[in-house]
Amino acid sequence: MIFFYFIKWVFCVSGVFGVDGDEVKSVSVMEGDSVTLHTDITQIQRDDQILWMFGTQETRIAEIYKKSMDMFDSNEIFGDRLNLDNQTGSLTITNINIANSGLYKLLIINNRGTSYKRFNVTVYALLPVPVIIRSSSDCSSSSERSPSSKCVLLCSVLNVTDVSLSWYKGNSLLSSISVSDLNIRLSLPLEVEYQDTNTYSCVVNNPLTNQTQHLNITHVCQTCSGRTPCCSLTETVSRLVIAAVVGVAAVTVVVYELRS
Ligand SMILES: *[C@@H]1O[C@H](CO)[C@@H](O)[C@H](O)[C@H]1NC(C)=O
Ligand SMILES: *[C@@H]1O[C@H](CO)[C@@H](O)[C@H](O)[C@H]1NC(C)=O
Ligand SMILES: *[C@@H]1O[C@H](CO)[C@@H](O)[C@H](O)[C@H]1NC(C)=O
Ligand SMILES: *[C@@H]1O[C@H](CO)[C@@H](O)[C@H](O)[C@H]1NC(C)=O
Ligand SMILES: *[C@@H]1O[C@H](CO)[C@@H](O)[C@H](O)[C@H]1NC(C)=O
Repeated sequence: MIFFYFIKWVFCVSGVFGVDGDEVKSVSVMEGDSVTLHTDITQIQRDDQILWMFGTQETRIAEIYKKSMDMFDSNEIFGDRLNLDNQTGSLTITNINIANSGLYKLLIINNRGTSYKRFNVTVYALLPVPVIIRSSSDCSSSSERSPSSKCVLLCSVLNVTDVSLSWYKGNSLLSSISVSDLNIRLSLPLEVEYQDTNTYSCVVNNPLTNQTQHLNITHVCQTCSGRTPCCSLTETVSRLVIAAVVGVAAVTVVVYELRS
């Protein structure tokens, strides 16, 4: 008997059966998709207790105990988008939204003791297609235009968080700007010659997806009517600098040398 307890203690201390609470599994998912958080239990036993909690408040969202399921008041947060597998206790969230990002904690109490699992769920927003316009400062300055004269463009995206915005010439990266943890608009300039026949594209991407806008130089450089969706380059940069100084966001600006 004493030997048995010793073995059990060894397992507990080494974390084989005991509380292994510090492991956090990272899960990334696109807004609108479904995600399943696995208990790694193949078959729940009658006396097993499975409890799912969400957020810093550790709000109880779902439980299985004595084979009966309880969804608490999780419908206030999740509506009817939670499903609990009655064999495994795994939790599925359907049509997930940004507000469902956060820490999910799983508590399993069974005859081997108590164990925890944590899942750090990051929900990434669907991305808007970037917009390319001719810079308003460029519009106001240039009156006469020679074939070799330049056109200054701005590629912009609105209301983005945790994304990079990049200019590509063919497949090579020309310039890039990144922002995290902030719901802002991002703009990135590009200077081209009117007669340039290379293919340029502006790409916005987060870790899971991207959106591309191809540049039609003829079209964009002839148009000056559109309102600037953002601001001049200096204004963009100063906004980003302010954001960084305030410490609201980590902002990285990387502008690669543009080779003609
Ligand atoms: C478990 O769920 C399946 C389908 O989701 C259902 O057919 C089955 O009756 C459920 N079993 C119990 C014991 O609730
Ligand atoms: C969850 O993931 C986010 C982004 O990946 C990270 O910033 C955060 O620190 C993580 N939280 C925990 C508790 O691991
Ligand atoms: C950007 O976000 C603001 C506030 O969150 C909202 O009022 C506005 O409609 C959004 N714009 C776009 C283009 O999504
Ligand atoms: C955009 O996403 C597609 C498919 O997910 C991928 O093949 C492509 O390389 C991505 N492009 C960029 C520039 O990240
Ligand atoms: C580029 O824009 C011009 C002027 O609007 C148009 O005539 C031309 O068809 C466009 N080219 C492509 C490849 O879309």
